[in-house]
Amino acid sequence: MYFVSDRPLIVAVDGPAAAGKGTLARRLAKELGLPYLDTGLLYRAVARKMVLAGRDPARDNGVAEARTLVAEDIARSDLRVPEIDRGASAVAKQGDVRAALLERQRQFGRETGAVLDGRDIGTIVFPDATVKLFVTASPLTRAERRLLQGHGGGGAGALERIAAEIAARDAQDAARASAPLKCAPDAVVIETDGMDPEAVLRRALSIIGTKLGSGVKADISAEPG
Ligand code: CDP
Repeated sequence: MYFVSDRPLIVAVDGPAAAGKGTLARRLAKELGLPYLDTGLLYRAVARKMVLAGRDPARDNGVAEARTLVAEDIARSDLRVPEIDRGASAVAKQGDVRAALLERQRQFGRETGAVLDGRDIGTIVFPDATVKLFVTASPLTRAERRLLQGHGGGGAGALERIAAEIAARDAQDAARASAPLKCAPDAVVIETDGMDPEAVLRRALSIIGTKLGSGVKADISAEPG
């Protein structure tokens, strides 16, 4: 375990849809031996619960679902589908939903440190995160990555369809009043066009190494103090 100035190491990974935040954050967590939280899953799980209850995330309020989320809701296999992409982005605009999910995110890894990915980790959830990364790529690259992951239903126009959905979600995430997607002033931007996941991981590790420098107080099972 790493401690920096007696605080556990928190790595915040933010960025727009399909930029590769999840892939990077998962690999970083493994490399650093830290727990990983994909915070998008929380918003996705709220949207899924609403849809299952016959409610519309774009119209109805999801705070009751946000307050009662349990681990099984987040572990569902049907959270990464277009309907829930849209639903999560819609419900993520609701300030009371965000407030209901905030403490859960802060608790995660408070003792041990963690890698978290999302839209507002470095700005709102952990404004004092040890390292903040903002991962991005051009809209075309992001649409191509989603297509390769099997999104868009294939066929003619699939790439354009995905690109349009991503653009709509980016616009909604960046324009909302509550915790909009934005790069923290002290985040390091990783522009991932033309980089494979391995290259992105190496770049992130190098940024973390530089950032920590000799600030890493102890490693492997050391306690703060
Ligand atoms: O993986 P992808 O980038 O497509 O999306 P995600 O990270 O699973 O997030 C789904 C949606 O949840 C986003 O479009 C955001 O609207 C919302 N979200 C958020 O508002 N704040 C976060 N920390 C994470 C996700």
